[in-house]
Amino acid sequence: MERTFLMLKPDAVQRGLVGAVISRLEAKGFKLAGMKLMKVDRALAEQHYAEHKGKSFFEPTVNYIMSSPVVAMVWEGKNVVALAREMMGATNPANANPGSIRGSYGMDISRNIIHGSDSVASAEREIGIYFKPEEILEYKKAGEEWLSE
Ligand code: PPS
Repeated sequence: MERTFLMLKPDAVQRGLVGAVISRLEAKGFKLAGMKLMKVDRALAEQHYAEHKGKSFFEPTVNYIMSSPVVAMVWEGKNVVALAREMMGATNPANANPGSIRGSYGMDISRNIIHGSDSVASAEREIGIYFKPEEILEYKKAGEEWLSE
């Protein structure tokens, strides 16, 4: 089953949006496989955003995710990488569909609530930098047979 890495950024934690965002992912039918509240240090933040090093938004983005605790999560499900990105909405909340997570809760690119892996390969890389293998749990979730055949 496909996995993705999602992170509730400092603004989501500070604004009390953790439950609201997780509720949407649960209601969709995705399965939570790993979760931790954590502070991101500079080394981890720079590793996470390594592909953007040298871009104008690199430093502000690194400082933003280090600024306060985040919730790092692994979610599992059919097409979860692409579908979670759809649910998140456009990177800039100002352009995000109003029904999406960023469109519902955000208004500025510098505070965009949630991070989600943009491909299966990115998900594997990001899960690997935030989670040890034993922190990702395999279990049978009630009702799975009602989500797809
Ligand atoms: S890009 O423009 O295609 O390189 O952007 P993307 O791959 O979507 O990810 C960029 C991450 O940096 C955050 N960020 C910004 N991006 C673009 N422009 C500005 N001004 C900016 N400020 C911050 C953006 O939220 C992406 O982080 P994540 O954690 O993936 O949302």
